[in-house]
Amino acid sequence: MGMKRIAVLASGRGSNFQAIIDRVCDGTIPAEFACLITDNPSAYAIKRAEKHDISVSVVSFSDYPDRESYNQALEKAMQESGADLFVLAGYMRLLKPETVRGFAGKMINIHPALLPSFSGLHAQQQALDYGVKIAGCTVHFVDEGMDTGLIILQYPVVVLSDDTEESLAARIMEFEHLSLPLAVKLFCEDRLEVSGRTVIIHDHQDE
Ligand code: GRF
Repeated sequence: MGMKRIAVLASGRGSNFQAIIDRVCDGTIPAEFACLITDNPSAYAIKRAEKHDISVSVVSFSDYPDRESYNQALEKAMQESGADLFVLAGYMRLLKPETVRGFAGKMINIHPALLPSFSGLHAQQQALDYGVKIAGCTVHFVDEGMDTGLIILQYPVVVLSDDTEESLAARIMEFEHLSLPLAVKLFCEDRLEVSGRTVIIHDHQDE
C-alpha cells in the first residue's frame, strides 16, 4: 500500500491548504497530493498549488448551465483524482448529499467554531454575538448535513473582551493551521476509528 493521496478543495486564500503543504513537505504528513480542486478560478490557493507542482482542477459553477451538470463535473474531478482523502479547506460550496455519500468516511472539513455551536458562515461573529468565553475550531468528517459530521479534533480559543470578528478569526486561524494538518496526518496513518458518533484516535498505526 503506497502513500495515501490527498485532494484539497478550497475556494479562497488557501492558508489551511498551505498548512497541509508545509506538513507534507517536512514529512509530518506521510502522503502526497493528488490535486487541488477549486470552484474559484482566482483563488490564491491555485498559486500555492502551482508553486508545489500540485495539479489544479477548476470546476467553476458559472461554467455550467445548471447545478446538476456542475455537480457531475465536480464528482468527476474528485473521482479522477484517485485521492484517498478529500480535505475541504475553506471550500465555500455545500456538497450535494449524493456526492458526500459517495465519499463518506474520506472527506473532512475545518470549521472555525466549536461545533455543534455556530455552524454555517461567520462562525466567529456568531460566537461574539452570543457572548461565549471560549471559541475555537473543529475538524470533522463531512456528512450530508452542514457542519454536522463526526468530530475528529477541536481546539479551544479564549475570546477576549476587545475581540472583533477579525481578531478572533485570526487567533482561531492559528489553531486551524495546527488541527487540520494533524487530522490529515491521523487519517493517513490509519489512526482514526469511528465508534458510534465518537472518533477514537489511536496513538500508533495498526492499533
Ligand atoms: C477558514 O477560516 C476555514 O475555517 C473556513 O474558511 C476559512 C478558509 O481560510 N472554512 P483559508 O482559505 O484556508 O485561508
